[in-house]
Amino acid sequence: MDPWWRGAVIYQIYPRSFADSNGDGIGDLRGIASKLDYIAGLGVDAVWLCPIYASPGADGGYDVSDHTAIAPEYGTLDDLDALVAACHGRGLRVLLDLVLAHTSEAHPWFQAARASRAAPLADRYVFADPRADGSPPNNWLSVFGGPAWRWEPRRRQYALHHFLPAQPALNLADPATLDAMASVMRFWLNRGVDGFRVDALDFVAHDPLLRSNPAAPRAEIPAKPFGMQLHLHDMMGEGTDAILARLRAETEAYRDRALLGEFSSQPGAFARIARATGPGRLHMAYTLAPLRGGFGLTEARALVEAAAHPRGWPCWSFSNHDVVRVATRWAPDGVPDLRLTKLLLALLLTLRGSACLYQGEELGLPEAPLPFEALRDPFGRAFWPEFPSRDGARTPMPWASAAPQAGFSTATPWLPVPDAHRALAVDAQAADPDSVLHFARAMLRTRRATPALREGDLLPLDLPAPLLGFERASPRARLRCVFNLSGHPAVVPPALAADTQPLPHAPVPGVPALLAPWGVGIGGLG
Ligand code: BGC
Repeated sequence: MDPWWRGAVIYQIYPRSFADSNGDGIGDLRGIASKLDYIAGLGVDAVWLCPIYASPGADGGYDVSDHTAIAPEYGTLDDLDALVAACHGRGLRVLLDLVLAHTSEAHPWFQAARASRAAPLADRYVFADPRADGSPPNNWLSVFGGPAWRWEPRRRQYALHHFLPAQPALNLADPATLDAMASVMRFWLNRGVDGFRVDALDFVAHDPLLRSNPAAPRAEIPAKPFGMQLHLHDMMGEGTDAILARLRAETEAYRDRALLGEFSSQPGAFARIARATGPGRLHMAYTLAPLRGGFGLTEARALVEAAAHPRGWPCWSFSNHDVVRVATRWAPDGVPDLRLTKLLLALLLTLRGSACLYQGEELGLPEAPLPFEALRDPFGRAFWPEFPSRDGARTPMPWASAAPQAGFSTATPWLPVPDAHRALAVDAQAADPDSVLHFARAMLRTRRATPALREGDLLPLDLPAPLLGFERASPRARLRCVFNLSGHPAVVPPALAADTQPLPHAPVPGVPALLAPWGVGIGGLG
């Protein structure tokens, strides 16, 4: 049998916003545990928890100050053990987030390293001398704005940070640093977690000579200066492969564990995930390329083309905690359309690879409109209003339409529950057979029951606009998926519609001769 992660659907949980068990307005581990029947009932294979570690919370927990302690607002190690056991009891695997590229400045490693150039952990982070004029060693920029260097007076050096200044970059070229992160992995693997989603892998290695990046050719100045450089030297360094191999080797000592890598949207992203998931590297990986780009026939065909690539094992993700929710982001003019929302779920769940489903994506939640005063995300606050804050995708899960705070919490939540999300709450959708939730459950059941969808090859079909299509084929079965990427009915070439049969549990009965606006056809062949 194929390993569990091949073709798995991984439900991404943003713990702060999933379910609050103790009435402090912040989601927690016990809250997640209370919703496991819902998650298992969706028909997903695993959950990925965004960071739950001790952290000052400067970047939503991606600034870890203790890799082996749980943030008190989320609970305790006992709560995590209980959650992992309860997930396993329902056949769900658990991936934690491994933040490898940096820590919080509050981490004891950084406190030690910054003390002096001769400190015991002096090489744990990337420090470099200033230039003769006192300016930073090179022109590298931080993703979150401004130079990628912060001054460290005690060392008379700059420290590299690809994100916030409070997130100094770890020096993974230093063997002891990589060993330290490997021992963090073992701590959690020994506790029974099934693997990790590994954060920001394009930032784990850089040019050892610290050469400056060239300017990117551009007509205009973008809102984010990071986009003004070609990231030839600060990211995607040659050391990446060796780091990936080491991470993989750590998991090989355990049974059935998996690594899901996150790669940026920088050019060549699809090729990078194919390479990063080659033999001896990660099990699967996703790129932010689709999450950052637009959606139309051209982009959708590029996804299908990438999914057809026989090398490596991609994981598809259309929504997550870093981007505008897909129901809004990919809707024409940003106005969500339930038919398109369902089409996107069907596409996500039929492409070759594994898939991540972000909490609330199964409800078709639109992006939450938030005023500046409500924003917590430092990235969003820095670039407001030119760039939508990531908080619009991080608002609380709506569980019960009529309950205070839509059932998320008994207190005022850390981010508001938007009114538009109440009508889309779990209880309301559970009662409506036409809901996005019902569609998502049916697609997930279909995928589980259909080996060709989980593991089969993907063969793109050459179809006239506005149709997109492909076949999936395993040694014993073949099926066809056709999508109408327009708001008008579209005729399906007769040969494609003629011979398909409905798949078990599928929310659509085969491939019809005429596809409704934003319609989907999925059918088995012979
Ligand atoms: C995470 C972000 C985070 C960044 C820095 C990412 O790719 O998904 O939420 O801000 O890494 O850790």
